[in-house]
Amino acid sequence: MSRLLIPALMTTALLLGEDFAEAQQKKANYDESQIAPYTLPDLLQTATGKHVSTAEDWTQLRRPEILALFEQHVYGKTPAPSTWGKVDFKVTEVKKDALGGKATRKFIHISLPEHPAWKGMEVMLYTPNGLGKPAPCFVGPSFGGNHAVSTEKDVPLSTRWMRPNKEKNIIDNKATEESRGNESSRWPLEMIIAQGCAVATYYYGDIEPDHADGWKEGLRAALSKDGAATEWKDGDWGAIGAWSWGLQRIADYLETDSDVNAKQLAVIGHSRLGKTSLWTGAQDQRFGVVISNNSGEGGAAIMRRNFGETTAVITKAFPHWFTKTYTSYSNNEASCPIDKHMLIALAAPRAIYIASAVEDEWADPKGEFLSGLNAEPVFALFGKKGYGVREQPAIDTPVGDTIAYHVRTGKHDVTSYDWEQYLKFVKRHFEK
Ligand code: GCU
Repeated sequence: MSRLLIPALMTTALLLGEDFAEAQQKKANYDESQIAPYTLPDLLQTATGKHVSTAEDWTQLRRPEILALFEQHVYGKTPAPSTWGKVDFKVTEVKKDALGGKATRKFIHISLPEHPAWKGMEVMLYTPNGLGKPAPCFVGPSFGGNHAVSTEKDVPLSTRWMRPNKEKNIIDNKATEESRGNESSRWPLEMIIAQGCAVATYYYGDIEPDHADGWKEGLRAALSKDGAATEWKDGDWGAIGAWSWGLQRIADYLETDSDVNAKQLAVIGHSRLGKTSLWTGAQDQRFGVVISNNSGEGGAAIMRRNFGETTAVITKAFPHWFTKTYTSYSNNEASCPIDKHMLIALAAPRAIYIASAVEDEWADPKGEFLSGLNAEPVFALFGKKGYGVREQPAIDTPVGDTIAYHVRTGKHDVTSYDWEQYLKFVKRHFEK
């Protein structure tokens, strides 16, 4: 093969994931009557056949089993802390008059001194000024980088690999000056700060590039046994696990920052990063609120429902998001020992919000609703209430208590309507 051809072919391979998924959107099933009957795995029966009827048995017996099933079959196992060793947190900038004086903005560089091959991550933290107490904090990754979340011109441009996107002014896999603020509608910083909440975010590509070969050149490569990432076995963590690791290290930092109430952390994410938010909330109980925004297949949507995206499509388009084993459930969902009601249940007894958008059929809004509904028995063991309804509510009509849900008008996105609900939800739960 001519050497000149190789880069061109590589680019095509990198684009295959998104393009393949997009093409499948037109072919998917969106007809409720075409969904074959299915049975969800029993949430409350342990591997040895014991029926779980107390919060204690859930916590001691069933929860660890389910967490291990998600590691083994879906997201892979996050390596133990001894694998990554010391974590360095360096506050590189504090700007006390950010957002016209309403907030303090900090940048924190998180790195692993024992694994310098990983370039580390840049966290951007906004805390409200004049609150008089540490603020509850939303923690979530971004698709476009800190400079895309904020419209403040002095936020450094990310220099990391980005998926090509002309509309977002990502040229030659790099952000440009024109990409500033291109994700700001999804992060209404002024509104969040005005409500007395903080926001901590990082670019998910700081962990590794989001393409099928990304695991060979980011955090997962740096932490792999041989440091060369030559092997990716069943049970090894996928990209979602690695992005989630980043969120958990942000929580480590926030525990040391007196502007934030680290007992009031809400993890949030949209789409693939909503899947990441759910997996983070499942693994790390420091997050008292878990928010899934349009997380869909591989996130909140029931995998046994053949509606919108399927296991076969997601594992073909984005195999690197999951552990290898997950691919074996393509067109074979019934044999998978988990379904997504179990992922929602892993948040119990903490609060969880699942949000859909009515035009986002690809993510299966009803399947997202049903996972929360079917998780209710676990929350009930703790005396916590779920939706309070059995049927998916009308558009723009949020429901629920400790498990909440809405399906809003519009398409796959994060809007100020979504944030209004999350802010109310977070306050309600943390002020209890
Ligand atoms: C694709 C993919 C979804 C994912 C989404 C996103 O549409 O099929 O599973 O949630 O990308 O992350 O934007």
